[in-house]
Amino acid sequence: MNKRIVLASNNKGKIKEFQEILSPLGYEVVPVGELISVYNVEETADTFERNASIKAVSAAQLTGLQAISDDSGLCIHGLGNRPGILSARSFGVKEDGYPVAFKRIWAEMAEKTPNDNSAHFECCIVVASPVGVVQTVAVGRVFGRIVQPARGEYGFGYDPIFVPDGYNQTFAEMDNNLKNTISHRANALKEFNSGFNSGMGLSATELT
Ligand code: IMP
Repeated sequence: MNKRIVLASNNKGKIKEFQEILSPLGYEVVPVGELISVYNVEETADTFERNASIKAVSAAQLTGLQAISDDSGLCIHGLGNRPGILSARSFGVKEDGYPVAFKRIWAEMAEKTPNDNSAHFECCIVVASPVGVVQTVAVGRVFGRIVQPARGEYGFGYDPIFVPDGYNQTFAEMDNNLKNTISHRANALKEFNSGFNSGMGLSATELT
């Protein structure tokens, strides 16, 4: 019988990605929204890892089940790794939308970092035990550069202005399957998976 693990997110894309990696390991991934009607956790910490931990720990404590979560964002090197953990709410994204936020990013980059457009996406995955103790942490990154103008219709968030190293397309111009094999989330899931398989991360005993 499959073991249940709660995903501290109701994002459809994330649910699919986590199911794909955890199902072969014998887990049934249950989105937190299926168990709790109101799940609204404030991401108040100052690192991806701490924010992911807040989400995993609270989902575990609220459901009494083991929980998994992730936290991610875009880090622009010449801007001191901003927007970083504030990616969902920096540069007026929430109020004015991504196209306006892109203009603000380009303007600030032109002023502060005209010769360096390097950036990376980062993702941290955390697993918490049913009583809310952090068991496993995995980090994935993808490096690339910020481009202007925005290009592409796929993906979400900052995808139209990010070109990963070794490619000419932005994430938003890429087929989803390609993005999902090279992205920060994919890399974090790979690390998570290899930790599991080598016994260094999440062990079968811990998961029981
Ligand atoms: P969260 O991990 O769901 O909290 O994501 C935080 C924010 O980071 C998102 O709302 C996006 O703005 C940004 N972000 C994270 N991953 C990606 C990605 O794969 N593409 C584009 N933007 C992303």
